[in-house]
Order: sequence, then structure tokens, then C-alpha cells
Amino acid sequence: MATNAPAKTSFHMTPEEFRNRGHAVVDWIADYYQKIEAFPVLSKVEPGDIRSQLPQEAPAHPEPFEQILADVEKLIVPGITHWQSPNFFAFFPCNASGPAILGDLLSSGFGVQGMLWATSPACTELETHVLDWLVNALGLPEKFRSSNTGGGVIQDTASSSALCAVLAARERATKFISNRTGAKQKLVAYTSNQAHSSIEKAVKIAGVGSENLRLVAVDETLAMRPEALVAAIQQDKAAGSTPFFVCGTVGTTSSNGMDPLDKIGAICRQQNLWFHVDAAMSGTAALCPEFRHFQNGLEHADSYCFNPHKWMFTNFDCDCFYVADRKGLVDTLSVLPEYLRNKATESGAVIDYRDWHVPLGRRFRALKLWFVLRYYGIEGLQFHVREHVRLAQEFAAWVREDKRFELVVPPPLNLVCFRLNGSDELNQKLMDALNRSGDLYLTHTKLNGRVVLRMSIAQTNTEQRHVEKAWRRIREEASRLA
Ligand SMILES: Cc1ncc(COP(=O)(O)O)c(C=O)c1O
Repeated sequence: MATNAPAKTSFHMTPEEFRNRGHAVVDWIADYYQKIEAFPVLSKVEPGDIRSQLPQEAPAHPEPFEQILADVEKLIVPGITHWQSPNFFAFFPCNASGPAILGDLLSSGFGVQGMLWATSPACTELETHVLDWLVNALGLPEKFRSSNTGGGVIQDTASSSALCAVLAARERATKFISNRTGAKQKLVAYTSNQAHSSIEKAVKIAGVGSENLRLVAVDETLAMRPEALVAAIQQDKAAGSTPFFVCGTVGTTSSNGMDPLDKIGAICRQQNLWFHVDAAMSGTAALCPEFRHFQNGLEHADSYCFNPHKWMFTNFDCDCFYVADRKGLVDTLSVLPEYLRNKATESGAVIDYRDWHVPLGRRFRALKLWFVLRYYGIEGLQFHVREHVRLAQEFAAWVREDKRFELVVPPPLNLVCFRLNGSDELNQKLMDALNRSGDLYLTHTKLNGRVVLRMSIAQTNTEQRHVEKAWRRIREEASRLA
């Protein structure tokens, strides 16, 4: 039977409906944060549980918004591992905060794509400005400032920064010939055997080959040994290879090891090698002058990155990448097709960030960073960073006092590596029991061949009581296992 309903002329959400639904979603998120501690930190679902509850086909017809939001509660929440729980001590954090979420929401609202200055001048200029602010706030070398030869850009991740650094280094070392013909020399890169896997990935993608990445030995603090770096470079040179790139780390993932940037940097200058510094998590500590000594020697670096999306309360994704010579980076990555040509670019007076990373398109990520910096102020950020470090040092002191446990390395900042005396299996069991309980979430690593538990204290909302509870639960489970 034919209906008399008029044909729909639009399926879009009207601004008025967006307003109402938007309020409901913001309320939902606020409620989520209020009750987040009630959820098991590590999701308990089994593989396939989520998909098995979803329809086979996409909906043919519109569904009510209430139904969609209800399904978030029913289908999605059980499959969430609660990274924003104050009881999250795993990996390194991936922090969110109120101002960052709201800044990100505005970025979605504008929906701009800032590949060129001309495609949204504010997107580019705010980014340049905020990254210049951070040069001061973190005590970074002046050469990274946009008014100098260098500059900063927001990348999605530290992995992308590492890739851009390797690519720019490759081009500098081969006088921009590899971009045209592919690399002819056998290029060799160096990092410590504790460096993040993203360095190996970058070297693979850049066509250098993972066999040409030397994993340099570390000392007892798990920091790169400069003399081992020199020996490796000499050996490669003697074999006719071309050393071109060194990555030092401020705060390795496994143990928060701090490479001696001053010594590595001096070697790089002497040998004319690109020096990249990866401070993905620990770079944020430099907001506090008392922790800046870890970056002594950064003045030698050609590039540097740290992730506000880890410890600086800025939602994923947000990695700040700095280069000392922006021309080298842009010359490495620039391709200019006719359809992107415009007057502003040709004037030479603007930055086009499309040339500073792999993707062409880019979100307005500077907004969330700007919101965070303004909402907290440097004072607020310092306060929370110092608090996390204090809590980690206190946790380390508790570990030292309990003879059943071993503090594996003295924690430089906010990551405590410890183990229960006994086998690797025992430590694995301890961690699994804790994670299964849902009360907290810890992850492990291997240091000097032994399984070690990592207590990473950096979640936005973690306070003293959460760390105390974690230690109580760790000891309870340890007693149970004994
Ligand atoms: C030292 C270090 N570098 C790089 C990375 C990779 O970070 P991203 O996910 O931003 O690529 C990590 C991740 O934890 C890290 O700890």
C-alpha cells in the first residue's frame, strides 16, 4: 500500500539535533570518567566476542541515535581496555584530559584538512606557534624554533617521526640521490639494543634494511655505550658501508634507560651522522627544569620527538617532531603536483605542513595541544608530572623495603621495573593474576634475559591512593602465589 509520507530530502543530522545529541554524548563521557574505576582495567572479552554481536551487514535504513548510544554501552564498553583508568599502569600511558577531548571535538567540528597553509591558515599557524612555545617550555635547543633554521610539526606518532628522520638522514647522506634512483650505497643506522621497535620499522620502510641497523650494547643502566657505538661505526666504515643515522633514546620503553646524548651527539658531529633523539614518553619530564639533565647533549641533535599523547595529557594522536634544518626535511618529502599549487605557497612566506610528514592530509591537532597548554598552564603540567615521578619513587622505595621483591634498576623518572624473587614463570603468573582481577593493569618486559614487571605511573588520573592500592594488590597476589 502506498504511503503519503513525503520523500525524505535529507538524512543529515540537523544542527539542533546535533546540539541535543552532543550534550548527551558529553554527559555520557563525563559519567564514564566518574565511574571508570568500577570497570576491570583490562577488557575481559574473548577474541571474536565483539564481532559476534554485530550484525552481518551495515544497516540499510537509519537507526535512532538512542539505539546507537545504547549499543555503545552494551557492545563496546565490555571490549574497552580502560587506558584512562587511574589503575592503568601498563606500557606507557596514552593520556586524555578534559581540555584535550574538547579541543579534539572542536577540531572534528571544524573538520578542516590542513595540508597547505591556504587550506586553513589557523591550522598551520597555531601548530607552528604552539610547537615554538614548547621549545621554551621544554628547554629545547633554539635551532628547533621556526624563526631559526628548524621548526616543529605534529605527527601522528613517534614511529612516523622516526621514519621522517631516517628518510631525511638518508637523503642528506646520499645528496638527495636515493630519492631519485633508490639508495646505491650500503647505508647503516645505529641505535641501542633497548631502542623502540619503531626505529627498526623506520629503517625497514626507508629501504635501508633491518640487517643494516646495528643494535649497540648498553651499560648497567641500560643506556647506550658510546664506545660500542664508535667501534660499530669504525667496523662498518672499514667494511665499505656508509654510516648515516644514529637514534638515541630519552627513556627507553623497557626500562626508561637514558642514553648519554652528549657523548652520542659528539660522535655524530664528528662522524657527520644524523642524530635523532626519541623521547616519546619521557620528553614531557623536561617541562620540569630539574629533569632536563636527561636531555643534555640535545643541542647536537638533527631531529627530536616526544609524544604529548603519552604523558602530556593530550589525546592520541599527537607527537611533536622537531628538526634543526627544515629545508632538508622538506626537500626530502616534497612533491608538488599542479593541483596543490597556490599563491601563498609560491610566495615562500608560509609553511605547508604536507611536506613535513608522510601523509598529505592532516587534522587540526594543534587545537587540543593549545587547549591543554592553556588550560593547565606550564605550572599545572609540571605539578602532575612531578606528582607522577614522586609516586614512582615512593613505589620504588616500597619495593626496595620488601625483601620478596627486587628493584631491577633505579627508576630515573616514573617507570619502576621490579620483579618477585623467583622464576620468570612466577612473575608471569603474578602479572596475569593481577590483570585478570581487573583491579589494575601491568605489563612486562625482559631485562638481561629475565622477565621484569613494569609499573608505569603516568596516567592522567592516577593519585597516591591508586598506587597504594596497586602495591597492596601486588603483595596480596605474591603472598597467594607463595
Ligand atoms: C621510546 C618510545 N619510542 C617510540 C614509541 C612509539 O610510539 P608511537 O606509538 O607514538 O609510535 C614508544 C611507544 O611506547 C616508545 O616508548
